[in-house]
Amino acid sequence: MKLETKHVDNFIVKDCLIKFADNSLENNSALHNKTKKGSDYLGWVNLPFELNSDIISDIEKTASDLRTENDVIVVIGIGGSYLGAKAVIEALSKSFVPNRQNIKPMVVFAGNNISEDYLYELCEFLKDKSYSVIVISKSGTTTEPAVAFRILKKDLYNRYKNNANKRIVVITDKKKGALKQLADMNDYKTFVIPNDVGGRFSVLTPVGLLPIAVAGFDIKQLIDGAKNIAKQTGIKKSFDENIAAKYALIRNLLYKNNYNIEVLVNYNPKLKYFAEWWKQLYGESEGKEGKGIFPASASFTTDLHSIGQYIQDGIRNIFETVISVKEPDNKLLLPSDYDNLDNLNYLAGRRIDHINKSAELGTKLAHVEGGVPNITIEIQKINEYCIGELIYFFEKACGISGYLLDVNPFDQPGVETYKTNMFKILGKPGY
Ligand code: PA5
Repeated sequence: MKLETKHVDNFIVKDCLIKFADNSLENNSALHNKTKKGSDYLGWVNLPFELNSDIISDIEKTASDLRTENDVIVVIGIGGSYLGAKAVIEALSKSFVPNRQNIKPMVVFAGNNISEDYLYELCEFLKDKSYSVIVISKSGTTTEPAVAFRILKKDLYNRYKNNANKRIVVITDKKKGALKQLADMNDYKTFVIPNDVGGRFSVLTPVGLLPIAVAGFDIKQLIDGAKNIAKQTGIKKSFDENIAAKYALIRNLLYKNNYNIEVLVNYNPKLKYFAEWWKQLYGESEGKEGKGIFPASASFTTDLHSIGQYIQDGIRNIFETVISVKEPDNKLLLPSDYDNLDNLNYLAGRRIDHINKSAELGTKLAHVEGGVPNITIEIQKINEYCIGELIYFFEKACGISGYLLDVNPFDQPGVETYKTNMFKILGKPGY
């Protein structure tokens, strides 16, 4: 994994990078030494090294049982309790395979919205299929997953009677919450979300690992990738070696220069959901106390034909972070055409990726020239290892960046406001 930052040079004062490098490293140390805000939620920092073989084997065994017994697995959860798994599964799946993973079972998600149509259509879809549910909620009390779980639990008990409990896996807090109580009462297979890992930092716990393993992907490789970046961003690394400290500082220096929107860009639609995970990670961690960079995303070249216009010519408060994939998985050449009415013969015999990479470079230069600073993160391939690297890189940089911004990156007080209003409107007792 490489971080390229030369296209921010004209947008920040170079001296600042040198001046604040130690500050960024101190904030990295604060994550390791637990000396700053939110220090009770830093379990993710060493997580890649602490996942022991018992827990991995348990996850893999449960995933294998779920795979053999079901056509569909419904993963119920919202926010940090679903986006990591969704992002990784979407990134690694083939695009046009009916069940996405091309193996049984199909993994679908629920409990991340309260749409009646979505839930109704899910129930219709499940009618002629054998399925199980993985229900994920750290607090065990979140409304969206609770609504979806109530509906599917009833359906499972109607169908499978006393055996329904074998079709429910719970991932929740070790001790607290309604879901924990329910799991204990009904003897559901349960995995624990560590106390010191918040939702949006939980993809490398059973929250992400179980659904990813059920979808057929290699969770050990994912963890190895995360370990690699954890080592590279360790407490003893210098600023030049520590790409997370560098990315965190650069985005904060841009923010100080009024670049308050960051667009995470991909040139491969498989990374669309990775950006959704990233938006939640950064949005919930940094957007507080009237501060924070607004995290947005775009899939290019698709979106060059929509918001590309704004990025090139609109208000100059946007910077881009591009995830560039060095090698595609497949090779496809543009054929020659006798009539050449589309005038593409000059590219005949070239890889499609050559055209995509040329679009990437052309866009980067155009945007930089148009006043949009550019950071590029290059990964070798879209595979488990490289996605694991990206996950840990963004988590580490998010922690450092939140501290540079002087907020607590590990709380989300603003999320409660809509809930209070919704409960009042619904007439929930006590509101
Ligand atoms: O990052 C977070 O903490 C949140 O996005 C939570 O993951 C989300 O609100 C879901 O919470 P819970 O797992 O308690 O249902």
